[in-house]
Parts: sequence; C-alpha cells; structure tokens
Amino acid sequence: MLFDISVSSASGIEAVTKRELYKLGVGEVACENGRISFRGDEKTVATCNLYLRTANRVFITVASFRAESFDDLYEGVFAAEWQDYLPQDAKIIVTGKCVSSKLMSVSSCQSITKKAICDKLYSKYGNAPSETGARYKAEVSVCKNKVTLSLDTSGEGLHRRGYRGLVGEAPLKETLAAALLMLSDWNPSRPLVDTFCGSGTFPIEAALIARNVPAGLNRRFDFDFWKNFDFSFFKEMKENAAAEIKSDEGLYICGYDIDGEQVKLAQTHARLAGVGETVHLQTRDMREFSTKKRNGVFISNPPYGERLSDRNTIKSLYSDFGRISSAHGDWSRFVLTSVPDFERLFGKKADKKRKIYNGKLECFFYSYFPEIYEKDKK
Ligand SMILES: C[S@@+](CC[C@H](N)C(=O)[O-])C[C@H]1O[C@@H](n2cnc3c(N)ncnc32)[C@H](O)[C@@H]1O
Repeated sequence: MLFDISVSSASGIEAVTKRELYKLGVGEVACENGRISFRGDEKTVATCNLYLRTANRVFITVASFRAESFDDLYEGVFAAEWQDYLPQDAKIIVTGKCVSSKLMSVSSCQSITKKAICDKLYSKYGNAPSETGARYKAEVSVCKNKVTLSLDTSGEGLHRRGYRGLVGEAPLKETLAAALLMLSDWNPSRPLVDTFCGSGTFPIEAALIARNVPAGLNRRFDFDFWKNFDFSFFKEMKENAAAEIKSDEGLYICGYDIDGEQVKLAQTHARLAGVGETVHLQTRDMREFSTKKRNGVFISNPPYGERLSDRNTIKSLYSDFGRISSAHGDWSRFVLTSVPDFERLFGKKADKKRKIYNGKLECFFYSYFPEIYEKDKK
C-alpha cells in the first residue's frame, strides 16, 4: 500500500533528519509545520522506524481537511477510511494539538475524533470497537483550521532505543545526541571523548553509529502489531540489518564523569545497547583529562548551572574545560549549553554556533574546528 508518511524531529535538527531520509532513499520530501513528509509503503515505514537516529516519530497520514466547527471535525473524521487501517479490536488512543485555529480545545478535538473513529468502525464492522487488541495512536492536528489525521506507527518515541531503563541526572535525548554527533565533524576513524558523559548518551550513540547498529534494533514499534497491514518482511529486515553490524576494531570512544554513580549508569546503558565492550567509561574529573591520541573530537553537554548559586562553579568549570581541551590543538570541540556567556568563559569565539532546543530549554551548539588540522592537511 502507498501512504503519505511524515516524520517529526526536534526544532533545530530537521535538516539532519532530512539528510538521514535522503540517505535511506525515501525520495522527494516536503517540510511543513515541523514535519517532513514523503510518499512510501510499508517498507518505507519500517525502514524509517528502524534506521532513523534523529527523528521523534513516524506517522501515516489518514486524511486531511478543513474544519472550523466541531461538526466539520466530526464529519471529516467520520469520512476517513479508518476500517482500512484499524481492525474491530483496535485499542484507540487519540492525541491532539491545536495551533492558530477556530478549534482550540485539544481535549474536545480528541474526544470528537475518538467518537467519530468508533462510529465509523461500528458502521463498517457492525460492532463497536472492542479495544482489546493492538494499540493505535491516532493524532488529530489542527493548524490554521486545517485538520490532519495521522497514525503514529512508532508508538513510543524513537529516542527510546531500548537501552535507557534508568534515568540519569540530566540526560540528553538519544535522538538529539545522535543529531549533534552528525552535526559535528566526527567520523569513526577519529577518537571521540565526552568528558561530562553522565548516563553515557554521546558515547553510546557514537558507538551505535560507528558499528552500524540500527537505532531501533532493540525495541518494538506499534506498526509491528497491526493486522491490516503486511509487515511480515520486518523480521527479515531486522535480521539483515543485524548482519551488517561492524566490529569495534579501531574505534576509540570514551566517556568520563566526575560522578561514579553516573558512570555506573552509563556502563549499564552501554551494555544494554550492546556496545559495552566498544565504549570506555570511567570516573574522572574533566580537569584530569589527558591523552596522546591525535585528531580527536570532544563532544559534551556540561552542567548548565541553572541555579544562581551554581554560577561560580560553572564559571571555573567552563574556563578550565576551555583551557584543558585547547591543549589538544588538533582536536575538534563541540559543546551544547544554555550558559549565555559560554564563549567568554570557554576562552574562544566559536567557529560556528547553532540554536538547538534541549527539551524546552534554548541552548546553543558551539563548534570549534582544530587549529592545526588545516596545516596538517597542506
Ligand atoms: C548535563 S550532565 C551530562 C548528561 C549526559 N550528556 C547524559 O546524556 O546523561 C553533566 C554531567 O557533568 C558531570 N560533571 C560535573 N562536573 C564535572 C567535572 N569536573 N568533571 C567531569 N564531569 C563533571 C556531572 O556529574 C553530570 O553527569
């Protein structure tokens, strides 16, 4: 079956997701309201869920229409061919969002949508949905009076790779860490070090990239339980993907943290992700970092010091980090932080600076390219 598919990704990293989609060969894409959309079939849906490292979710668009009243909304939802997608026992969950529209009550839009879907299935199956079967998350999105109805094929967000059972201090989302690695100039032939690794997200995501482990290999997706589609190829797709995993030969990926509990957590996550032997994780103060490795990459999100009382600690931490990392002149440096005067504290103006949201927090991703790298290349 051919569908209109869309993927969502965080503000500031859509371009990285687009690049991933291009590499997966999805063809022409369009961007609207934070979604990247394209045409594809069941294989495209499965491929995007299995391989995309930076997207949040993968949706199938069921219908779109204009609505300025609840009657319009009910009629539009009822008119969609829900029976093509949902079986009689579907467990239906409706999520919603409303932006700049006449219909601005999200909860009313959700309950009207659910009622119209259930009425439609009743009219087709002769029974009300029993809701005893697989989960179907339907999204009703109303933007400038245009309603888009989609089915969330991922279920849990794609940042849930299946390795983070436990929550660290201020963990970075896996999807964001992967996107920042892709925005950096790191490649698996270069050493990678996160001197503030916390629960290990950067080193683990780097190891998954380097070893060609698909982001979704160790988790389930809602589409995999859906009866009205043919996803029977998915088991083989995963087996083929697993056969393409590379060894960790030649990789140098390290994470350090001053907090031993965080390092233990990172080690557990690395093991669960299947890269426990690939990443080296150790308790260490950033100030004690040293290496003889050449042409490496530092990538970190150090503490942001959100409380006023942390200000002096942050000042000395950032200036020490700037001094210690700059001693490795042939290394690149990448830092994600919300600290406003970061460049002054770090001691150098960034070569590049990109606005990124870490959750709801506005941050910048500062890039520093090696000073002697260009000379080396000549
Ligand atoms: C924002 S968290 C990093 C979160 C991490 N990226 C993750 O995904 O879990 C910052 C980390 O810096 C660590 N830290 C603070 N001061 C440090 C220092 N002097 N040396 C090394 N790590 C330090 C903290 O223990 C904390 O885990």
